Amino acid sequence: VSAYQFADGVELAPDSIAAAADVVRAGGLMGLPTETVYGLGADASDPVAVGKIFTAKGRPSDHPLIVHVAAFDGGMGGVAHYCARVPAFAQQLMSAFWPGPLTLILPRKEGVGEAAAGGQNSIGLRCPAHPVAQAVLAALRKPSDGGREVWGIAAPSANKFGRVSPTTAAHVHSEFGDDLLILDGGPCEVGIESTIIDCTRGAPVLLRPGSITAQQVEDACGRKLLSKEELLAQNQQAPRASGTLESHYAPSATVRLMDAKALQSALDLLSGTTPPDKRPTIALYHRSPLYVRSPLVAAHRMPLHAQPAAHELFSKLREMDAQGVKLIWVEAPPDSPEWDGVRDRLTRAAA
Ligand code: TXA
Ligand code: MG
Repeated sequence: VSAYQFADGVELAPDSIAAAADVVRAGGLMGLPTETVYGLGADASDPVAVGKIFTAKGRPSDHPLIVHVAAFDGGMGGVAHYCARVPAFAQQLMSAFWPGPLTLILPRKEGVGEAAAGGQNSIGLRCPAHPVAQAVLAALRKPSDGGREVWGIAAPSANKFGRVSPTTAAHVHSEFGDDLLILDGGPCEVGIESTIIDCTRGAPVLLRPGSITAQQVEDACGRKLLSKEELLAQNQQAPRASGTLESHYAPSATVRLMDAKALQSALDLLSGTTPPDKRPTIALYHRSPLYVRSPLVAAHRMPLHAQPAAHELFSKLREMDAQGVKLIWVEAPPDSPEWDGVRDRLTRAAA
C-alpha cells in the first residue's frame, strides 16, 4: 500500500500500519481510526490484551466490546470465525451497510472472543469503512512474517469510561498520553458511534441509534425494527449495552438541553451581567437564532443538518469544555429520525 493521504494533509506511511499490526499481534493496545470514532484496539482473541482495554478505560469488565473485522469477502471471514449462526436479516444488513457504521450483535461461537464479549453468548461485530482500520485488519489477517493470524480487533471508543468519545488522534492522545501507539487517520467522518442492532432475538432490535437510521435498517432487511422498550414489553431479558447507562459521553462541565424558547428566556435573565474574571462561564450551542447580551456566554452554532452536526458533536463538546466553562447549554435537536443519534448522545451527556 502506498502512503495514506487525508484531506487535512495528514500522511500515514505503510510502515506505521505494519508497526500497529505488530503491537496488536504482540498483545498490546493501539489507537485505531474508524469512520465513527477512534477505538482503543486489541486482539479480540487474546483475553490478556482485551483485559488491558478494560483497565485502560476504567470500564467494568462485564461490558461487551465491539469486534472489528476485515472487509475482504464482505466481512464474512470474521463473521464465520466468531459467529455460530447468522439470521437472514442480519446477512441482508451486512450486504447493505458493510463496510460501514453498523454493528450487529450475533450468536457467538463457543470458545471464541469470550473476553471481548464480556462473557455473553453473543458478539458485537462491525466491519469499519476507514481505510486505515481496514489496512491494519488486513495486515493482521495476512501476517507477512508467518506470524499468527488475528481475526478481529476488539475496540471500544478510545476514551475513559463515561467520557466523550474521541474523533481525532489528538483527542486520543489527550486521554491516554504518549504510551499508546495511535494511527492518525484524520478527523472521523461520521463523528458518533455506530448504530447497533441486536440480531439474536428473532427480530432486529435497535440498541444504539447512529448515523444509519432505523428507517434505513428496516428498508434494507424488510423487517420491523423493535426498540429496547418494545422488546422489554415482550417480556424478554433486557439487552445489555453500556450506551444504555444514563450518564455517558459527559464533559466536565454540566450539560443542559433546552428548547430555543427556554434558552432565550435563560439568556434574557443574564442580560447585562459580566463575569467577575471576564471569562465566559456558560457555553451555548444552538441552531436557532438567539440573542445573547452577556459576556458570560460564549455562543457556538450547531450545523443545521444532522450529519454535519454528528460529525462535529464530540469535538465541539471537548472544545467548549476546554474553555473552562461551568455550564454547556445546548439547544435540543429536532425530534425527527435523522437526529436520533445526535439526540441520544446529547441526552446522555446531559443526564
Ligand atoms: O462506532 C463504534 O461502534 C465504535 C468504534 C470504535 O468502532 N466503538 C464503540 O464501542 O462504540 P463501545 O465499546 O464504546 O460500544 C460498544 C457497545 C456497547 O454499548 C456494548 O454494550 C455493545 O456495543 N455490545 C457489544 N457487544 C455486545 C453484545 N454481545 N451484546 C450486547 N451489546 C453489545
Ligand atoms: Mg464508548
